[in-house]
Amino acid sequence: MAQIIAVLDFGSQYTQIIARRIRECSVYSKIYHFSTPAETLRSEGVIGIILSGGPSSVFSEKAPLPDEEIFNLGVPVLGICYGIQLMGRLLGGEVAHGDRREYGHGTLAIQKPGRLFSGLPKRLKVWNSHGDKLTRLPAGFSAIGTTENSPFAVIEDRKRGFYGIQFHPEVFHTDRGVDVIRNFLVGVCGAKQDWTTEDYILRSIEGIRTSVGKSRVILGLSGGVDSSVAAALIHRAIGRRLTCVFVDNGLLRKGEREAVVSLYERNFKIDLRVVDASALFLKRLKSVKDPERKRKIIGKTFVEVFERSLRQVGAAKFLAQGTLYPDVIESVAIAGNPAALIKSHHNVGGLPARMKLALLEPLRELFKDEVRAVGAALGLPREVVWRQPFPGPGLGVRVIGEITSERLRVLREADAIIQDEMMKSGWYWKVWQSFAVYLPVKSVGVVGDERNYADVIAIRVVESKDAMTADWSRLPYDLLQQMSSRITNEVRGVSRVVLDISSKPPATIEWE
Ligand code: XMP
Repeated sequence: MAQIIAVLDFGSQYTQIIARRIRECSVYSKIYHFSTPAETLRSEGVIGIILSGGPSSVFSEKAPLPDEEIFNLGVPVLGICYGIQLMGRLLGGEVAHGDRREYGHGTLAIQKPGRLFSGLPKRLKVWNSHGDKLTRLPAGFSAIGTTENSPFAVIEDRKRGFYGIQFHPEVFHTDRGVDVIRNFLVGVCGAKQDWTTEDYILRSIEGIRTSVGKSRVILGLSGGVDSSVAAALIHRAIGRRLTCVFVDNGLLRKGEREAVVSLYERNFKIDLRVVDASALFLKRLKSVKDPERKRKIIGKTFVEVFERSLRQVGAAKFLAQGTLYPDVIESVAIAGNPAALIKSHHNVGGLPARMKLALLEPLRELFKDEVRAVGAALGLPREVVWRQPFPGPGLGVRVIGEITSERLRVLREADAIIQDEMMKSGWYWKVWQSFAVYLPVKSVGVVGDERNYADVIAIRVVESKDAMTADWSRLPYDLLQQMSSRITNEVRGVSRVVLDISSKPPATIEWE
C-alpha cells in the first residue's frame, strides 16, 4: 500500500501549500475533510497526519473538530497553527483565547532541536497568523521552541511522535520551513522519498477515470500551457472520449493554428475540432477601437462559438479546464465541505455555469512549475511546456485601435520575426513575454528613391515573475538590430521599428 501523509483541512488558505511542500519532499499526501473518520485514514494506509491551520477559534461553537481517534492510530501527528491549539485542547492542555491576532514575522528560538528541527539553525524567522494561544502543555509534551510572544511555539511528545507548531512552516516567509516539514515526514513518520511526477500522473489518471466513468469530456484548447497539459493528461486517462475544441478567432499568431493541429491531432491523436470563426470575430470587431469593448466582444463571441461547437460534439457531461491552484479563489466555509466551496475565477467567460456541465479540473491542486513538470513528463514539447503567456484576446489587443485584416497581417509577420529571432538567440526562454505591437501611426520611410508613409511596429520584451510587475529586457543591440532590419525588409508596409522601454508600473505589459 502506498504511504500517505494525510493533511486534515481545517479551512486554512495554506492547506494546498502544505500539500505542495510535501510533494516537494517527494512524498505522497492527500487532503482530507477535517472530520474524516480515523478508521478511513487507517484503512487507506496513512503513516502520518498533519492538522492544517484554519480561520476558526477552538472556542467557537462551530469550531471544526477532527475524529479524536486519530490520536490513537499510532501514527505521528503534526498540528500547525489552529492544529496545535486543537492538540492542546483535545489532549488535555490549555488554550487561551486571544483578543488580537498575532500576524506577521517573529523569531523562533529552538532550545532542543529534537527530530523536527534537526540540522536547522537555532534561530529562525517565522510567519505567524493566529489568535488563540497554547498556555499549558498537554501531558507528555515539552516545549522545544519559543517566540517573543509564545513559550510554546513548538511542542513535542517524542514518544508518540506528536508535534505542534504555532507558526506556518509551509509559507515562503518562514525560513527553512520545507526542511521542518521534511524532518516530520522523513525523520518522524519514516516516509520514503520516492513519490515522483509520474506517480502523480498515474494517480490523476485514476482519479479522472473514476470521476468521468463512461462519459464524454470536452475541453477548450487554447494552446497555452495549462489547457495543453490538462488535455494531454485527460487524453492519457480516457483517450477518444475527450474532445478538444480549438477556436480560431482570427487573432492568433502566425502558424499557431497549424502548430496546435500538428501536435494534438497528428502526434497525440487527440480528437480535436478546429472551429474557424475568424470571419465572425473580425466582422464583430469592425470599427471597434476601445480596448475594453474589444475584449468584451471577443469573450462573448468565444462563448457563443464554443457553445455552438458543442452541439456537434454530442453529449458531453464534463467540461474540462486547466485551472491551476493560484487561479482558485479560496472561500472556504468550515461547516460544509471546504473543497466544494472553493470557487474558480478561471472559467472561460462563465462557460460552466451556462452549460450545465460538470467541471473537470485535473490541475487545480498544482502550481505552474508543477504543471510544467507534468507536461514534460507527458511528452509535451518544450515549446508548449515553456510557452510564454499569450492573452485570450490575442493580437486583438496588440493592434492598437481598429482591427483590420491588413493590420493583422502586418502585425503577424512582424511578430513572427521577433519570435524567430528570440528563439534562435535563446532569449525566448529567458524572458516573460516577447511580442510585436502594431501602432496605427503613419511614419515616413524611404523605399528606393521614393518617400512613403508606412506603419510602425513596437518591440515589447519584458521580464517578470508573475505579470504583476515587469521590467523591459535589456536585449543585445545586435539582436534588436537583426529584428529591426528583418521587419523593415521583410514585412511589406512597415517603415519604422521602435523599442518599448517602459516598466510595469506605470506601463502595463500589453499596450491595450
Ligand atoms: P498587463 O498588460 O495588464 O498584462 O500588464 C498582464 C498579463 O496578462 C496578460 N493579459 C491578458 N490575458 N486576457 C488574458 O487572458 C486579457 O484580456 C489580457 N490582458 C493582458 C498579458 O499578456 C500579461 O501576461
